Order: sequence, then C-alpha cells, then structure tokens
Amino acid sequence: MLRSVILAASRSSGVERLVATAPVTRDLVRRFVAGTTSDDALRATRELVDAGLTVTLDHLGEDTVKAEQATAVREAYLRLLAGLGAAGLTASAEVSVKLSAVGQAIDEQLAYENARLICAKAAEVGTTVTLDMEDHTTTDSTLDILAKLRNDYPDTGAVLQAYLRRTESDCRELSGPGSRVRLCKGAYKEPESVAYQSTVDVDKSYVRCMNVLMAGSGYPMLATHDPRLIAIGQDRARWYDRTPDQFEFQMLYGIRPDEQTRLAGEGHTVRVYVPYGDQWYGYLMRRLAERPANLAFFARAMASRK
Ligand code: FDA
Repeated sequence: MLRSVILAASRSSGVERLVATAPVTRDLVRRFVAGTTSDDALRATRELVDAGLTVTLDHLGEDTVKAEQATAVREAYLRLLAGLGAAGLTASAEVSVKLSAVGQAIDEQLAYENARLICAKAAEVGTTVTLDMEDHTTTDSTLDILAKLRNDYPDTGAVLQAYLRRTESDCRELSGPGSRVRLCKGAYKEPESVAYQSTVDVDKSYVRCMNVLMAGSGYPMLATHDPRLIAIGQDRARWYDRTPDQFEFQMLYGIRPDEQTRLAGEGHTVRVYVPYGDQWYGYLMRRLAERPANLAFFARAMASRK
C-alpha cells in the first residue's frame, strides 16, 4: 500500500517540489546518487574500480517530453563516454540508458537514433551500453529498439524484470550466444494482469528466469541485493560451470556496499549501478518504495520539516 503511494508520488510534480526542497532530502540523495556532474560520476567510478568493482553509469533523467531535452541527454552521455575513455576507465565501466530519457515517448525512431549514437560512442571508446527497462507499457518498444541496436552493436545489454509474467519467455528469447541480460525484480507499480504482486511470486519468477539465463549461452547480469537470490545465483554458476567472466552480480550505488566488496573479494565480477545528475527525483522515489526502513526515515523527516 505504502509502496503504491510512493510510486504514485514519483510521478507527481507537486510532491517533487516538496521533496526537492526539504533539507533532509540532501543526505538521502547523497546516499543513492553519486553527484550532479560527470566529474562526480567519474570520481565515484574511479573509487569503485580501485576497490575491485566494475560500474555502469546512469545519467539521471526519464520521461523526456521534448526533442531538445532528448538531445541534451544524448550529449551528456557522449561527454560522459569521452570522459570515461580519457580516464582509462572503459575496461571497467559502461553506461545504462533509459530510452524514455532519449525520446521514447515522443517518437520511437528518435529514441533509437539517440541510443544508436550513444552505442557508437561507447564502441569507439571501448565499452558497452545497457538499456534500462521501464514500466510495462514500454517493454515491447524497448525490446524492438534493442534488437535493432544489436544488429550493429551486438553487445548492447537488455534488462528484464522478473515481476512481469512475460519475462521467463523473454529470457528464453534473449539467452542466446553473447546476449548480455540484466535480470532484476522490477521497480514500477504494475497491474496484476501483467505482473506478479506478492514478493514470493516475484522471487520464484526471479529464480525461474535466472535458471533460464544461467543455463543459456548469453552473459547473465544478476541485479539484486537479495541474499537468498545471490546465494542461488552462486549455486547456479557452479551447476553450469560459469566462471567469473561468464556472468556478473549487479547492485545499486549505496545499497549493501559491504556485500558488493565481499562478493568481489570472493572473485565474482560485481558491477555497481551509479546514478548521477540533477534529475534524481524518480530514481530516489523508487529506492524509497523498495524498503520500509528508508520510507519510515523519510516520512519522519518530512513530518518534522519546518
Ligand atoms: P529486495 O527489494 O527484496 O531487497 C533485498 C534486500 O536488499 C533488502 O532486504 C535490503 O537489505 C536490500 N535493499 C534492497 N533495496 C534497498 C533500498 N532501496 N535501500 C536499502 N536497502 C535495500 N528495475 C527496473 O525496473 N528497471 C531497471 O532497469 C533496473 N535496473 C537495475 C539495475 C541494478 C544494477 C539493480 C541492482 C537494480 C535495478 N532495478 C531496475 C531495480 C530492481 O528492479 C529492484 O527494484 C531493486 O533491485 C530491489 O530489488 P532486490 O532484488 O534488491 O530485492
């Protein structure tokens, strides 16, 4: 119930104004977001790479409604990729892109063209792009764009969300040779007609999807902080003889950092999803919705706001 309210608030500009101006917000944002500039992002990347982790960087922004805004996001990615290249970080850091930020809601072709330019730059500097997955109304369009991008850039990564009923079948489609697929639980408010609602059903679906990906011949990217699913992932890696260069774990910046370094210390490839930029509102609200403890802290602070 609380989760639904917070996810609804993530789309409200009124609540956004209230949250953005609350003093308490700054500390919370700092915990989950690496900073506002690409220099901040590069600094955070360097620290994580020095600690034995790998990175995927997200220039925050979504739901772009103007073509100029989409161009600005594309240009920010091109600058970021040039910065990663110049800093010698592309062996360990790639980028994650939300198609809605590069124009998907305006025109699918526009989003494809912007994403293609980002993929071209990534290839030029020696790294890859993963397409984040957003709410279920965009899944088909995102997978269509992915397929087109993979014609020229076969290492473009996909994201599949275990809470969607369709995902086990999508995993089968996308488990072929070289296919990079991030499997996550899913972060949006989705109707029962398309998505499992209970945590048990979502977790069971995650395991079924993971089985398909780990048994396949692609490159599974297991994005979760859930200790049980991580243990099952390690187990499946043993079953299917996958070495640390044949799959990876992924976690979000600021969430379970000790677990990130522990897994890397055991020899696993661990990639941290590092968001940066000033459009942090939607991202922050989804992180709050995921965890009652974050929510309670935030609600108390907002209630005592002067
Ligand atoms: P779950 O939410 O059950 O959490 C398990 C444990 O992790 C919790 O008990 C707690 O200890 C810790 N934890 C989890 N979330 C926390 C939080 N916010 N604050 C503090 N602790 C927390 N989703 C999507 O729809 N599209 C996408 O493209 C992506 N991309 C993506 C990339 C990466 C690298 C990750 C890790 C996740 C995503 N997600 C995503 C988000 C994902 O769908 C999901 O909402 C979160 O990962 C939370 O789910 P968990 O699997 O971590 O389990």
